Amino acid sequence: MNLSRIAIFASGSGSNAENIINYSLSNRDSGLEVAMIVCNRPDAGVIDRARRLGVPVKVMTRAEINDPDVMLATLSDARVDAIALAGFLLMIPDFLLERYPGRIINIHPSLLPKYGGKGMYGRHIHRAVVEAGDTETGITIHHVSSEYDGGSIIFQAAIPVAPGSTPDSVETAIHALERAHYPRILADTLKSDLSNSYILFRYDKQK
Ligand code: GAR
Repeated sequence: MNLSRIAIFASGSGSNAENIINYSLSNRDSGLEVAMIVCNRPDAGVIDRARRLGVPVKVMTRAEINDPDVMLATLSDARVDAIALAGFLLMIPDFLLERYPGRIINIHPSLLPKYGGKGMYGRHIHRAVVEAGDTETGITIHHVSSEYDGGSIIFQAAIPVAPGSTPDSVETAIHALERAHYPRILADTLKSDLSNSYILFRYDKQK
């Protein structure tokens, strides 16, 4: 079996990180093993979640993350061979893109290219979707490139925005979609079953 040892980079609550860890633990044949969490915020919820699940967490400053000597040594000490971003809000430095070509994957809570780019993350996106009166939203799983939210798309899933939706209700629906798809798409992409494919799922109803 082709095993990927991943570092999950996260800045927030960590529900996606937790889903990926649980998926890897209960699907041993997925080829996914979570080696560590890298977090840039000492107060982030992801830290407690990871500790509870027994996954090592490294809290690093932006300067450390952007320092090739520190960052590459941290990842190689943990024998990391791929990176999953899960609500990580800093730009990925070029030296990481060079060190892990095609092996850094992100999830974004909109149907890119809509609502992508700097400042577009989490709740800000769901508020913009509701304010714009959009009838559809979704998630995008994509390769990370040097352009913000600009790497090639691996997978999208779309759901309708129900009339009367609020940013909170959209966020809940998006988290359910993320939970349903991110861990498996991540695992399959890293096994390279999906490296050149593009998949779009369109739901008629919110999950
Ligand atoms: C998730 O919805 C993720 O897609 C989004 O942040 C949330 C993090 O939640 N990521 C971005 O907006 C990246 N631009 P979590 O901390 O509970 O996983």
